[in-house]
Amino acid sequence: MREVKSDYGRVIVGTKAELFQQAFDLGAAERAKAAHSRFLWALTGGGTPKEWYQWLVSEKKLSPADASAIEWTVSDERHVLLDSAESNFGNAERQLLAPLGVPTDRRHPWMVAWPVAEAAEAYRRTMLILAGPARTYDVCFLGMGDDCHTASLFPGTPLLRDDGGLAFGGQEVPGKGWRLTITPTGLRQCGLIVVMTLGAGKADALHRVLRGPDDVLNVPSQILKTCADRVVWLVDEAAAAKL
Ligand code: 6PG
Repeated sequence: MREVKSDYGRVIVGTKAELFQQAFDLGAAERAKAAHSRFLWALTGGGTPKEWYQWLVSEKKLSPADASAIEWTVSDERHVLLDSAESNFGNAERQLLAPLGVPTDRRHPWMVAWPVAEAAEAYRRTMLILAGPARTYDVCFLGMGDDCHTASLFPGTPLLRDDGGLAFGGQEVPGKGWRLTITPTGLRQCGLIVVMTLGAGKADALHRVLRGPDDVLNVPSQILKTCADRVVWLVDEAAAAKL
C-alpha cells in the first residue's frame, strides 16, 4: 500500500483485500481507544460496502461478542422499508448484523416507516441519547458515487447549502427519491470517517474531489476538507489512476 497527499484527508492506495483489512483495522483501532462505552459505528450503502460486509463475515474478522458490543447504524438511508433491497440498513442487517447475531437493541435504523421529517427528527433524538450533543458517529463509513456524492449529499441538494446546524436531515434527490442522511455538520462531529472508493469508474470523480477546484455544491465529497484531519480514503489503483 502507498499513501497519496491530499487536502481532504489521508489517501491510502492498495488492493481490495488490503483496503478491506485496512477498513477493519481503522475501525477496530478507533474502538480500542474509545473512552466511552457506547461505540457508534455507521455503515453505508452501495456495492462496495456490501462486499466488505460479506468479507467481514466470511473472514470471521469480527466476533459475535465484539459486534454485539457496538451500536450500529447507517450514515444515510433511502426512504424505503428495511425489507427493501434498496435499504442501506436492511442490507447491512442481512449481510452483517444478523449473521453476527447483533441484538436488536444494538441496531439503530432510521425510522423509514415515518414521513421524512419525522424520521429525521426521531433519528436526531436517538443519536442524542447514544452520542450526546456534540458528537455523532465514532466511525462513519462512506462511499462515493461517480457524481462525487457521498452519504446522500448529492450535487446541488439543499443540505449542502444549509443544514441548519443539524447533524442529520432528509431531502429529496432528483431522480432518486427521498433520502435521510448525515449532514456536513454531522460529518464534522464524527470521530473517524472512512471513505471506500474502488474501481476505474470512480477515477474521474476522485480526481475532481481531490485535485479539482473547490466546488462543494457540485462536488459534494469535497465537504470532507472541513474535517480532513479525521478522514481516511481507501482507494484502489484503478480509482487512483488520475491522482
Ligand atoms: C447510497 C450510498 C452511496 C454509496 C455510493 C457508492 O445510499 O447509495 O450511501 O453514497 O456509498 O454511491 O456506492 P458504490 O460503492 O456501490 O459505488
